[in-house]
Amino acid sequence: MPMLTDVRNALAFLRRGEWGELLFRLRVHFGRIDLTYASVRELGLQPERSHDYRHSGGVHLEQLLDGLEITSGDAIVDFGSGKGGALITFAQYPFYRITGVELLPELVAIARRNLKVLKISTVEMVVSDAALFTDLDDYTHFYFYSPFPRGVMAAVMANLKHSITRRPRKTFIIYCNPEFHETVIADSPFAKVQEFRHQRLGLPIYLYSNQP
Ligand SMILES: C[S@@+](CC[C@H](N)C(=O)[O-])C[C@H]1O[C@@H](n2cnc3c(N)ncnc32)[C@H](O)[C@@H]1O
Repeated sequence: MPMLTDVRNALAFLRRGEWGELLFRLRVHFGRIDLTYASVRELGLQPERSHDYRHSGGVHLEQLLDGLEITSGDAIVDFGSGKGGALITFAQYPFYRITGVELLPELVAIARRNLKVLKISTVEMVVSDAALFTDLDDYTHFYFYSPFPRGVMAAVMANLKHSITRRPRKTFIIYCNPEFHETVIADSPFAKVQEFRHQRLGLPIYLYSNQP
């Protein structure tokens, strides 16, 4: 009974005074935006290269972004952007460039449809393995929500290190569910500067930055 669940969820948000999350969900529901969960198996992905699809957009990601003083000089990449949940939230901020990098063309097609329905035209989508996306010099912010296992994460972080060496600048990593905090990230030029919590997902989000 999805309708009954929807009504129960809506009432729970109202009871908790979570207006922002309720509005985001209504926008998704009535706009027929597809941000539904899909497992690695359903997506036909290899578990050694990828994790499940689940989105992190909405008011809980906004709470973090609101504190970052994003300006029109900033640009962000979402590594493993899926159906575009986080990209939809990034589009509310003055980033001059927003790019989603996603392995699966089917998910990119859904993301493009979602963005079109919402009349968001400021987001670029690239179909690529994140490890092969090396065109990073333009960006100031890098977003990860638990997209892939350690090998891919290490390759992406090596690309990022090359980019900030080639073009020294202050950059930020926003990492939701930071499972490689003590390994891949500890081995990188980035240090944790702040800690948040994504309430809906029940996960920590770490903010990292480098010293150029
Ligand atoms: C947990 S979802 C995150 C979705 C989105 N970033 C968000 O926060 O709303 C992870 C996504 O990473 C994608 N992905 C997995 N492995 C990848 C890879 N090697 N390169 C690019 N994308 C990948 C999956 O297809 C999935 O869409």
